[in-house]
Amino acid sequence: MEQTYLGLDIGTSSIKALLLDERQNLVAEASVPVSISRPHPLWSEQDPEEWWQACLTAIAQVRSASPSGFAALKGIGLSGQQHGAVLLDGDGNVLRPAILWNDGRCGREAEELQASLPDFVERASNIAMVGFTAPKVLWVRRHEPEVFKKTKKILLPKDYIRFRLSGAYVAEMSDAGGTLWHDIAGRKWDETLLAAGGIDRSYVGDLVEGSAPSAMLSDHLSRDWGLSTGSVVIAGGAGDNAAAAVGIGAVKGGEGLLSMGTSGVLFAVTDHLVTKPARALNAMCHALPNRWHVMGVTLSAASALSWFAETIGKGEKVGDLITEVEAFAKDKEQRANAPVFVPYLTGERTPHNDPEANGLFAGLRAQHGAVAMAYAVMEGVAFCFADDFDVLADAGTDLKSCFLVGGGARSTFWGQMLSDVIQFPLDLPAGAETGAAFGAARLGMLAAAAGIEAEICFKPDIKLSYAPKGGEKAFYAPRLARFRALYAAERQIRTSLKA
Ligand code: XUL
Repeated sequence: MEQTYLGLDIGTSSIKALLLDERQNLVAEASVPVSISRPHPLWSEQDPEEWWQACLTAIAQVRSASPSGFAALKGIGLSGQQHGAVLLDGDGNVLRPAILWNDGRCGREAEELQASLPDFVERASNIAMVGFTAPKVLWVRRHEPEVFKKTKKILLPKDYIRFRLSGAYVAEMSDAGGTLWHDIAGRKWDETLLAAGGIDRSYVGDLVEGSAPSAMLSDHLSRDWGLSTGSVVIAGGAGDNAAAAVGIGAVKGGEGLLSMGTSGVLFAVTDHLVTKPARALNAMCHALPNRWHVMGVTLSAASALSWFAETIGKGEKVGDLITEVEAFAKDKEQRANAPVFVPYLTGERTPHNDPEANGLFAGLRAQHGAVAMAYAVMEGVAFCFADDFDVLADAGTDLKSCFLVGGGARSTFWGQMLSDVIQFPLDLPAGAETGAAFGAARLGMLAAAAGIEAEICFKPDIKLSYAPKGGEKAFYAPRLARFRALYAAERQIRTSLKA
């Protein structure tokens, strides 16, 4: 084997390592689970040392699966969960567990941060959401002042792994926007935003493009892994969603990705910065130069169906449940009379930025059983994407094509339903090699100059294309209107009862 490239994804539930040869054939892969700790309501934390040990284990597994493949390693690309805050002292020691993207403790700090500058939202191109990094750091400053005092560097999850691989403090464009310290249009740190967040330029790493070299693998790891020193470059890498987009070849303006995973993401590449902060659209740089992306994030997607299946004792039989739902849905009248479900089981990001939003079933009648409710759950998730789609259109994004990926994409019934609800064609990729680690490996190839972008970031073959059925638009319209009205009513009740 001449040359290989490693993609390393720092996921929330596992660390994935994937080794590709120069034609992007899979040489070896490994996945090592990591745990989440939720010591208090709304908290979500992980131990960065556990990420690192899991990375070492995953790399050791890849190395033992293909010793010759690993010996040919030339580039590493990193991807990872966005927004997490890893706080380090002046010697690079971790000061406290990382506070993750799905941690909701810093509502007060997010509000204060946004109010601290009259032009905060314009500067950050995003509203100050609790999921983002800056409010987490302000929470530490307020509640753990002794930790904040010792803090000298703050890194995102994948950038911490880069530090362990190389000793370098480097950040990268696609992830930087999710900190709220970044000038996204200018692709540089924003001193004013950093100051609003209680820190300065010395706290954050140097910024590079995702496809550019960021550092070299350290000499001691190169020796430990049997590689010649100075031979392995580490790419800037990307936040997990931007990395997945690179992996699927969504690299030009208008190319998109709908990911139906635990959470759901509608991602579109843009040629210039497009924003819609008022509707909680995430706007950031892409992992490739001179391009940006917008992203609608839905917090419970495939996980809403897993939750419902578990609740009715069918957690191990989600596939069977979907088959029953498919049979149920063949009867249009049954479908029209099914309950409506709002899947905000862990709050919702786009379009509401409402961590306290709830899940809701409405329209239940005595004739409804578990299958009718499961239908409503699947449809409710599709409605979340209809909202994401609407926000993207509202922001002026011109989506030209969209791949469908993620665990939920395994159901052809759900794929067709999504296409009908959003009235947009969705392409299912043929190969299994999708996901953030694959995109990260591609960024590793680009940083190692293994080829040009057009050669490396090609699109996969299409296994199946879902074309929207025109007639379904009219069917879903009243149900979608009801879904939207239900959330508005729930929010109104919740806020008025609180007052
Ligand atoms: C994106 C986001 C999540 C994380 C989790 O804004 O919060 O997609 O990146 O992987």
